[in-house]
Amino acid sequence: MKIITYPNPILQAPAQEINLADLAVKKLQKLIKNMVKNMHKADGVGLAAPQVGKSLRISVINKKAGGLTDDLILINPVIISGSLETEIQQEGCLSLPGVQIKIERTKWIKVKAIDLNGNRFYLEARDLLARVIQHEIDHLDGVLIIDK
Ligand code: CO
Repeated sequence: MKIITYPNPILQAPAQEINLADLAVKKLQKLIKNMVKNMHKADGVGLAAPQVGKSLRISVINKKAGGLTDDLILINPVIISGSLETEIQQEGCLSLPGVQIKIERTKWIKVKAIDLNGNRFYLEARDLLARVIQHEIDHLDGVLIIDK
């Protein structure tokens, strides 16, 4: 599994929703597990499916982003609310090697998503974890830090 870098057009295309029935398919489960493995191999805090050439709404988040006991898998994630308070911090991206850009993000968010078993869950995140989740959901909308 290779991490795709800019300017591959898949990185700037909106990704497709996952059909819940497809989650039972071994191939999709395998893709998600491979994404987690590759995120660690690349020492990234997060990875989105378009970055491995699959235009699907899946993001994985490294537990080292903070506030997590395990790596987080987000299928069809949606930000349902957030604080008005924002913070500006430098961000990088595995698909933009060597690029660091200051990005303004909401400090606190509430997200709904589906887990690997097809169950809906809600998650509140703040600070770095909130930032990483926003970055990885941007990937699913075809938005890169250079587009912000
Ligand atoms: Co990125």
